[in-house]
Amino acid sequence: MGQTLTEKILDDHLVEGELETGEEIGIEIDQVLTQDTTGTMVWLQFEAMGLDEVQTEIAAQYCDHQTYQFDFKNTDDHRFLRSAAGTYGAHFSRPGNGICHNVHRENFAAPGKTLLGSDSHTPTPGGLGELAIGAGGIDVTVAMGGAPYYIEMPEIVSVRLEGELPEWATAKDVILEMLRRLSVKGGVGKILEYTGPGVETLTAPERMTITNMGTELGATTSIFPTDHQTEDYLERVGRGDEYVELQPDDDAEYDDEIVVDLSDLEPLIATPSMPDNVVPVSEVAGESVEQVIVGSCTNGGYEDILPVAKMLEGRETSMETETIVAPGSKQASEMLAREGWVAEMMAAGVNFSEATCGACIGIGHVPSSDSVSLRTFNRNFEGRSGIEDDNVYLCSPEVAAAAALKGEIIDPRDLEEEEEDLEAPGVELPDEYDGSKTDLIAPDEAVDDELIKGPNIGDVPLKDQLGSDISGEALLKMEDNITTDHIIPATQDILMYRSNVPKLSEFTLSRVDDTFAERALEADGGFLVAGENYGQGSSREHAALCPMYLGIEGVLAQSFARIHRANLFNFGIVPLTIDEDTYEDIDQGDEIEIVDNVYDAVTSGQEEFTVRVNGDEYTATLDASERERAILAAGGKLSWTKDQAEDSGA
Ligand code: F3S
Repeated sequence: MGQTLTEKILDDHLVEGELETGEEIGIEIDQVLTQDTTGTMVWLQFEAMGLDEVQTEIAAQYCDHQTYQFDFKNTDDHRFLRSAAGTYGAHFSRPGNGICHNVHRENFAAPGKTLLGSDSHTPTPGGLGELAIGAGGIDVTVAMGGAPYYIEMPEIVSVRLEGELPEWATAKDVILEMLRRLSVKGGVGKILEYTGPGVETLTAPERMTITNMGTELGATTSIFPTDHQTEDYLERVGRGDEYVELQPDDDAEYDDEIVVDLSDLEPLIATPSMPDNVVPVSEVAGESVEQVIVGSCTNGGYEDILPVAKMLEGRETSMETETIVAPGSKQASEMLAREGWVAEMMAAGVNFSEATCGACIGIGHVPSSDSVSLRTFNRNFEGRSGIEDDNVYLCSPEVAAAAALKGEIIDPRDLEEEEEDLEAPGVELPDEYDGSKTDLIAPDEAVDDELIKGPNIGDVPLKDQLGSDISGEALLKMEDNITTDHIIPATQDILMYRSNVPKLSEFTLSRVDDTFAERALEADGGFLVAGENYGQGSSREHAALCPMYLGIEGVLAQSFARIHRANLFNFGIVPLTIDEDTYEDIDQGDEIEIVDNVYDAVTSGQEEFTVRVNGDEYTATLDASERERAILAAGGKLSWTKDQAEDSGA
């Protein structure tokens, strides 16, 4: 039987296990990336493991989430990250140089390689045929030290693209259509492999818009085969020699198939406040828009902003709408500026911003209360924009530009009829991506050779070995789809403490219950209870690290999002799955006790646990590999890795 493209790349990198769905496999990692929110912990853990140098072909540290310098904390963190990159041999991308995924795809992403990144949108270069997976920081630390990355072999689903996108429909509409059909849980446990004749009609950047937002489907990753479009893009970024042709075998078998006819697509929009609330733009037309933002790792490339510039050229944006363009990389800004497009956009009323994540995580450009903000981003979770009563819509750059001109949501096809000389801008790549590289420091140009820590950079908290008796209060009961943004909000006033776990922990779950952190510390142990898909969204490991610091010992949920589930193991918190009836029966404040000897049960491979809640007994499941059980028993991955190193005499 032939192989899928995913199987071919995994096979090339396989160090342990067999490529059978559900089996745990260990794969070699060629490249790692980390950003500034997750990076400080990555390097502190790397230091704690006593390693000298990164072992992967490429390690890259980006500064994109917290680039604004409100006081010394972000600057201290960036100085620490530069010093860590220099000390251990990683590339360092300075604050302002751009969003990790954009800079990585321009400089390092390559077909056939594996990439592990401590950011949930790491799958972006799947559009170039790289097998790229988002993970917790500690997983990245360990991979950077040369160890394999372990993952349960996902199902491989063929997403067969047919036809060709009509005018005004874009790559963003392809992934919004997928979200409309599959929901934010539809990709869980799956790798989405794009196939079919429609693939070759999409440029590599368009493919990367699709793979970027596969994360919103919950997919492990998404990947495209390579062809002339991939080669063409690599040549334009000056790395044509890294092209390799990668295709699935003709007789490859997939676990499932989804067919999307590109010719049927029309401009779509995700309405507040989930990326899968997708409807045709025409359904919400007429809604007035106070803010439009074009940018982010989904649609912040040169080729995403150029259509906006073309639509705005010689026109004026609406007086009622603030329009912001924030490119994904400084290279894109520089190229657009050299070609005169920045001036054109500014003349049309655009406020041009630095290349950063910024507004995507509520840092800057916070919308006014109870207003509509239209963004080309990938997430619109409630409150993520920096204000609780937000109304964030997600759409393509073309739909965003149409709204900027009209001051209200409008299908760009209708605007074309109203506006003289407005036509669909289409997709255009530059002859050459030729921005200067002054903000990307290679390991051999490193400025520092020792770690520099400011006063806000603390040590990594460690947890003791797993105990045998675990009991405590159900400290918080939550609904379905709780995101890591709910657990640790990513806004600047909170995440500036990312290197100071005791302080950051005070904000744990504060968006759900602002007394939680205090109650958890007082209780000195206890449980979280949640519905389906607990921990979806960003990969930030602080969402497990801070609850661990507060003494949380177990989470009882109906299901867990992949990266967060791994992070719970990595920080020694027991993730137990419960059924709906058990979930319904547990109330906040109930006393919960795991009846089994937890340490023995975890290490012996026991799957069913008896949980006593106010005297009644229920069954909860621990679905974990042998390695995950060992990590949990050791009190987390850092302790486990150190134990392993000691055992091997390293
Ligand atoms: Fe940054 Fe938002 Fe992407 S936080 S990495 S632009 S999802």
